[in-house]
Amino acid sequence: MSSAFDDGVLDQLAELHLSILPDSLISLLGARFVRQFYRYVAGTRTEHLGLELQGDHVIGGYLLTEAPNTLFWRLLFTTDLVLRAPLALVSPPLLRAIVEKVKSKGTRQDNTLPELLLIYVAESHRKKGVGMRLLNDCTARVRSIGYFGYYVRTYDDPNDATHRFYNRATFVRTGTIVHGGRPMAILEKQILDSTELG
Ligand SMILES: CC(C)(COP(=O)(O)OP(=O)(O)OC[C@H]1O[C@@H](n2cnc3c(N)ncnc32)[C@H](O)[C@@H]1OP(=O)(O)O)[C@@H](O)C(=O)NCCC(=O)NCCS
Repeated sequence: MSSAFDDGVLDQLAELHLSILPDSLISLLGARFVRQFYRYVAGTRTEHLGLELQGDHVIGGYLLTEAPNTLFWRLLFTTDLVLRAPLALVSPPLLRAIVEKVKSKGTRQDNTLPELLLIYVAESHRKKGVGMRLLNDCTARVRSIGYFGYYVRTYDDPNDATHRFYNRATFVRTGTIVHGGRPMAILEKQILDSTELG
């Protein structure tokens, strides 16, 4: 697991994000924005990036935020996100994603836990434990910054591979929201003591 974030590494994360999650709001805003996004989150105190390298190549990463409710708004004022808004007029999925983001203003009312926003592993490196190592690293990070849990949103389908992945890591379903017309589960990971850190 690495914590060195030079621009080359951040660009690799951006590239991996674009190829694995092409329908995410960030990807829909374009490759240049995705690169800006990673440079932005690498420089804040409230966002935490983790990644795994094989040689010089990034093969997986995650992004945790302590401030999920404000991230979109902070991006609006610190990147050229606002200049990209017209793109939404020609891209219905992007328009829907932006409207949902504006309407949702976060998923937890009490807003006391960090959110794991993204976790991904290059397709060629999956099913070898990289994802679980990233998740364990994230859990340790959450503990070290003083929280006793964090949450993630995922498809509300226990048979979905990603849902299973979180279940194996002892995430527990605590609620649901509708996102993109689909029900999404909110899964929460409690960190009870240091033995939970994997
Ligand atoms: C979800 C994701 C991060 C998991 O990454 P991963 O590296 O494949 O995760 P792991 O290898 O730790 O575990 C995946 C599976 O491989 C199995 N596995 C792990 N090591 C293994 C090994 N050495 N041999 C055989 N199987 C193994 C695990 O048991 C697990 O099985 P399961 O699907 O039945 O639960 C990855 O599938 C991904 O990037 N998906 C697309 C992005 C995405 O949807 N992200 C979530 C929303 S942002």
